[in-house]
Amino acid sequence: MSTNQPYIAPLDPSRVAIIEKFGGKIIPLDPIGAEVHGIDLSSADTPPPDVVEALEHEMANRGFLVFKNEKQLEADDFLRASCWWGGKQLHSTHGIHPATPDRNRHIFRLSNDRRHGIPGVGPQWHNDGSFNTDTFSHSGYHIIRPAEKGGGTYFAHQGAAHDALPEERQEFWGRLSSVNSASGAVHPVVHVHPISGRKSIWLHLGMTGAVIEKLPDDDGFRLLDAEEMKQLCHEYNDILNAGLENGYAIAYEYQENDCVFIDNLAVAHRAAPEAHLPPEEQGLRIMHRSTVRGVQDLAPDFDLPVYINLNGPSPFGKGVWQAGGVGFRWDDGIPMQN
Ligand SMILES: [Fe+2]
Repeated sequence: MSTNQPYIAPLDPSRVAIIEKFGGKIIPLDPIGAEVHGIDLSSADTPPPDVVEALEHEMANRGFLVFKNEKQLEADDFLRASCWWGGKQLHSTHGIHPATPDRNRHIFRLSNDRRHGIPGVGPQWHNDGSFNTDTFSHSGYHIIRPAEKGGGTYFAHQGAAHDALPEERQEFWGRLSSVNSASGAVHPVVHVHPISGRKSIWLHLGMTGAVIEKLPDDDGFRLLDAEEMKQLCHEYNDILNAGLENGYAIAYEYQENDCVFIDNLAVAHRAAPEAHLPPEEQGLRIMHRSTVRGVQDLAPDFDLPVYINLNGPSPFGKGVWQAGGVGFRWDDGIPMQN
């Protein structure tokens, strides 16, 4: 039983007015996200601070914004607009595909055809940059070529997903911290979103090497064992998937020239399964991703450090403690790739 109805904030009329005064239009998508029309991302000028703030707040509340562009943007326009948000500079840690325009190191080029971009990325729910202590504040997804037969991105609102959890799970998850398998960065499984103030769940389903539980009745910690990790990851997967039925997640299909910016602390995402089907079947898909520096550490509670060495012995006793690769495999039958 859920304790609360999952809540998605409607657009705030005063912010809508600020955006409209600047010549833009923001329209809610159902059930999460919003479309933005009339703001030219190819302009060299950043909109005034009140407009950027209004857009950034709505992105935090609704999860993501889709900028509808009349014409295809240049890579530089996309990257410049990425820096309107969060830490206001790019933080790029990925590989560079040879087909990337000018081999620009800030563009992560994805495709269902390996000649055009890196295939198979992000099939399970995750947030970008979880190997950093501050993660990425925002990510951009610029569709270069949508596949004819579709294959977009799923987004799920992590504040509403927390609402939807049973009270006893909220309490338990509130005592958990995840350890990133690639870096040892530690993040809370429940955090308070810095802009919306909403309690939000946060876990990477393809790069988690350990989960630490703060014991309820004393100052100690323990590790989840393999069975508990499986259960946690399945529950996390299920509660985000349930948003597709219960009004807090969306299967977003890109239209020509779309440029999506997400608040990476507010929504989890994963590639739609169709996004990874071969081009002969689905049509060719090419997308550019940008990633924006975090504003502050997504730091764990309970005085846990922001990094733990997963290659050393566990200070928390027995349990799953797995460095490297995709971390703990919580389901043998699913693709996992970062
Ligand atoms: Fe991603």
